[in-house]
Amino acid sequence: MTRFDCNEHMTSFLRELPKCEHHVHLEGTLEPDLLFKLAKRNKITLPDSFPKSVEDCITRYNNFADLQDFLDHYYIGMSVLITEDDFYDLAMAYFEKAHSDGCLHSEVFFDPQGHLERGIDMDAVVHGFNRACKYATERFGTTNKLIMCLLRHLPSEDGLKTIELASKHYEKGTIHGLGLDSSEKPFPPELFAECYKTLKEKFPDVGLTAHAGEEGDYTYINGALNSLNTTRIDHGVNAQQNEALMKHLSENQIMLSLCPLSNVKLQVVKDVAELPIDLYFEQNIPFSLNSDDPAYFGGYILDNYIAVHTRFGFGLEQWRQISLNGINGSWCTEQRKNELKKLVDDVCDKYRPLL
Ligand code: HPA
Ligand code: ZN
Repeated sequence: MTRFDCNEHMTSFLRELPKCEHHVHLEGTLEPDLLFKLAKRNKITLPDSFPKSVEDCITRYNNFADLQDFLDHYYIGMSVLITEDDFYDLAMAYFEKAHSDGCLHSEVFFDPQGHLERGIDMDAVVHGFNRACKYATERFGTTNKLIMCLLRHLPSEDGLKTIELASKHYEKGTIHGLGLDSSEKPFPPELFAECYKTLKEKFPDVGLTAHAGEEGDYTYINGALNSLNTTRIDHGVNAQQNEALMKHLSENQIMLSLCPLSNVKLQVVKDVAELPIDLYFEQNIPFSLNSDDPAYFGGYILDNYIAVHTRFGFGLEQWRQISLNGINGSWCTEQRKNELKKLVDDVCDKYRPLL
């Protein structure tokens, strides 16, 4: 398999290139050392089957059989998150790392149902995350949005109750978007149409997205677009199974939030090179590159950019386009988009003579 070099200049360019992240689960940024620290702080006994050390975690994380195998572990991992400060610490560690990777705007997922069912208060989760969002902006100048996800393995009635509980946070704009995650099959997006409709009617400015086409086939992507009215798709790698859908994504500029390293770790593809990224370029389908659950999948946003570079060997202009597509697909203000685009041009001008 061809491998392209990612030399020092290219690595610096990819780091400095202003990046937007649209697909990262805050609970999936729980690094093993913080996980064990919080377990101790909160006196949580992890099950016997759970890895006992940071090294054991790394071994386990290199051997996920599929999405469900990962999720079984992920829900146990998040059981160490109890207090508002835990949620703050978790999100702050992510924002710090994202900033050092040159990520200037993050739209981050969280899974309240994974906490509510353990007796944690919605407000502890949202206040902790929101405090970190605000502090990240103050400290790093980076912008961010919270996206609440519904767990699709739970009934839609549970989703409706969760939306009700989160209403005051949507009202204030503390939570900006709605997503859908967890075990994709056999839970098609159509099951959650009422949840999406209810929220959108109450808060017309809310951003809508859903995981689709990671393990589910292309019909899951059509389901998200047609029944949930999402304006983006998380993963979406199976879109290429259907030509009409690819045409629709291109014509309507629907962005796919791709997660290359995640797809390898969860055995969606054997190698990043298998992702149909050339096809997206050819057909003018916008995509962004994201880390998904970086503590579990071996890399943050920059690692994902580098992994794609070593397989596809893009030039500066293609990277510029990827960065601009990510900005255009973001849910930030036009003013922020223009600021970010200007920064992209500055970085490209700086590196053009070097690459
Ligand atoms: N897919 C679906 N649900 C998830 C994921 C994922 O990659 N990560 C956390 N929840
Ligand atoms: Zn995801």
